[in-house]
Amino acid sequence: MDYIEIKDKLKKMITEKRYEHSIGVAEFAKKVAYMYDYDVEKAYISGLLHDCARDMNIEGLREYANMCNIEIGEIEALHPLLLHAPVGACIAQKEFGINDKDILSAISSHTVLNKTPTLLDKIIYVSDLAEPGRTFEEAKKLRDVVFKDIDKAVIYAIDVSFEYLIYNRKMIHPVTLFARNLLIKEVYYDKN
Ligand SMILES: [Fe+2]
Ligand SMILES: [Fe+2]
Repeated sequence: MDYIEIKDKLKKMITEKRYEHSIGVAEFAKKVAYMYDYDVEKAYISGLLHDCARDMNIEGLREYANMCNIEIGEIEALHPLLLHAPVGACIAQKEFGINDKDILSAISSHTVLNKTPTLLDKIIYVSDLAEPGRTFEEAKKLRDVVFKDIDKAVIYAIDVSFEYLIYNRKMIHPVTLFARNLLIKEVYYDKN
């Protein structure tokens, strides 16, 4: 599939607002990838498709998760919307013909990240929060930090999401916590 076909198909799967956000993430991810010498095409496609399952209903997400053998953990069972990330990766593969494992990983891990995130996972995780359509203060700061230090940007993005979760008395996913500890150690402990 070329970009035009991917975009046409994606447009039919998500709302107009979500589509604009997806284009924003794709464009922003491309700039970040360029900055860190990463494959800009892979970053663009990952950004484009990261939310392809975001407008499915809960039942659809659960059905798709079963079909794709996606494990539904305790937190996913309580917050089934989280499934849109791994289900999105499954749809990217099955319906968009994407077989690149880095792209599928970045889509699959864009909400809770994964224990040992790759550069592309980090680019998409940060771009999701930092794309220009996000107008809150934290997004503005993130747009600045990401071009200076991607790991610090990921830590900051995680912290923003944790602050929200704590304030709203929601559970913190252990995978995100693991990734944060790993990055904190790499960035702030190992360098001293
Ligand atoms: Fe998402
Ligand atoms: Fe998103």
